[in-house]
Amino acid sequence: MDAPTPELMETVVNLCKRRGFVFPSSEIYGGFRSTYDYGPLGVLLLRNVKDAWWRSMVQLRDDVVGLDAAILSSPRVWEASGHLANFTDPLVDCRSCKERWRADHIGDTCPNCGSKDLTEPRAFNMMFKTFVGPVEEGASVAYFRPETAQGMFVNFANVLQTSRKKPPFGIAQTGKSFRNEITPGNFVFRTREFEQMELEFFVPPDEAGTWFDYWCDERLRWYTDLGMPADLLRLRPHDPEELSHYSTGTSDVEFRYPWGWGELEGIANRTDFDLTAHSDASGQRLEYFDQATGTRYVPHVIEPAAGATRTMMAFLLAAYDTDVVNDEPRTVLRLHHRLAPYKVAVLPLSKKESLTPTARRVLGLLQPHFMCDYDETQAIGRRYRRQDEIGTPFCVTVDFDTLDDDAVTIRDRDSLEQVRVPIGALVAELQGRLAT
Ligand code: GAP
Repeated sequence: MDAPTPELMETVVNLCKRRGFVFPSSEIYGGFRSTYDYGPLGVLLLRNVKDAWWRSMVQLRDDVVGLDAAILSSPRVWEASGHLANFTDPLVDCRSCKERWRADHIGDTCPNCGSKDLTEPRAFNMMFKTFVGPVEEGASVAYFRPETAQGMFVNFANVLQTSRKKPPFGIAQTGKSFRNEITPGNFVFRTREFEQMELEFFVPPDEAGTWFDYWCDERLRWYTDLGMPADLLRLRPHDPEELSHYSTGTSDVEFRYPWGWGELEGIANRTDFDLTAHSDASGQRLEYFDQATGTRYVPHVIEPAAGATRTMMAFLLAAYDTDVVNDEPRTVLRLHHRLAPYKVAVLPLSKKESLTPTARRVLGLLQPHFMCDYDETQAIGRRYRRQDEIGTPFCVTVDFDTLDDDAVTIRDRDSLEQVRVPIGALVAELQGRLAT
C-alpha cells in the first residue's frame, strides 16, 4: 500500500471532525493544548480497538488475566519504579523568544525564531503532579500514572494468589495514562492524556528471550489480522542508548506515519527490574515459589505496550480509500469488521410512512446483536456513501417489496454486492458475514 501522505493526514483529521470521530477538546473555548474528545463514532472505534486487543490478549488465552488498577496510587510506586528520578525529557529554553523545546527534537536552533541562544538541557519530569485531599502540601502529593504497567507490578502477588496462575502468565490492562509531553502533536499521535493497552508477561528468567521473540511475532500479527497492510508495519530493535531505564532490550512495532516510520507499540524485556524494585521498596516478597522443584525466583517480564488512541489513528490512516462507483467518486473506510463503529445501517428506501414500521422492526431485531445506525434522510445513494465514509460494513435496505416478501437487501461495503435475504434469516446471515 502507498505510504500515508501529509495530505492524507489532513483529510483524515477533517473526516474525524466532520463525521464525529474526534473533536478538539474545549473547542468552544478555542481548544485546549493538543487534547481531544472522542465523538459518537470515535468512542465506538476506540472501544473496538481495545476490545480487539482484549479479545486477543485475554479472552482467547488461558495464560493471561485482566486488571483495572487505579490511575492514582501511592507516590511510593513512582519512587520505586524509577519514574520520579528517570521519567524525564531533556528541555532547553530559547533565550530570545522564551519558547521551550525538547533538546533531542531540535538540534542547536530554536524552531520558532531561529535563534541559537539556547539554555543547557535540563531534565524535566513528565509526570502530572496533583494533591490528594484539601491541603496542597508535600505530604499530599500524588501523580497521575504515566503508564498502566506499574498497577500490574504492584498487584503481582494479589493476582498470583487469587488466579492460581504460574509463570509463564500475564496480566493485561487497558486505560488512561498521562504525560506532560513538551511537544504533543500530530493529532492523537502524541497527547498528554491517552490510552494504553499493556501486557506484563511474567516468565522464568531463562525463558525471557524466547518469550520476547514470541510476543514480537504475536503483536505484529495482531495488526495484520485486523487488516493493517504489512508494508505499513515493521519491527525495529532499539539501539542501546534508546533503551528505557528498565529495559535490557526493546523492539518497536512501527507504522509508516505521514511523517515517516514511528512507534506504534514497544515490546520490552523489563527483566526483574520492577518486581525487585517494588519488593525492595515495600518489603513485600514479589516472587514465585515453584512447589514442584522447591525453588523460588523473581520472574522476568516481557511487556508488549501499545497505545490505543495512537493505534486507532493508524487504523484510520490505513483504512482510508477512495474509488469510483457508478461514475461517482466515493470515500470508503476499509476498516476491519471488528473495528468498524457501526456494523450495520438500516436504511428504509424512502421516508414514506408505510416503510417506517417495518424498518424499525428490522432495526429492533438487529440492535441486540450489532451496533446499528438508522438513517432515513436523503436519497439512498447518498446514504450508502455516508455509511461507506465511516466504514459501516453492511447496509440493510428496506424497500416496498419488503412489505410483500418480508425480505431485505444487504449491501456489502467492499464488494458492493447486494443480496436479498428474508428478515427471519437476517441476524444469522449478518453474523456469518461479520465473523469473517
Ligand atoms: N509501560 C511501557 C510504556 O509505557 P511507552 O513506549 O512509553 O512504554 C507505550 O508507551 C505506548 O503508549 C507507545 O508505543 C504509544 O503507542 C503509547 N504512547 C506513549 N506516549 C504517548 C502519548 N503521549 N500519546 C499517545 N500515545 C502514547
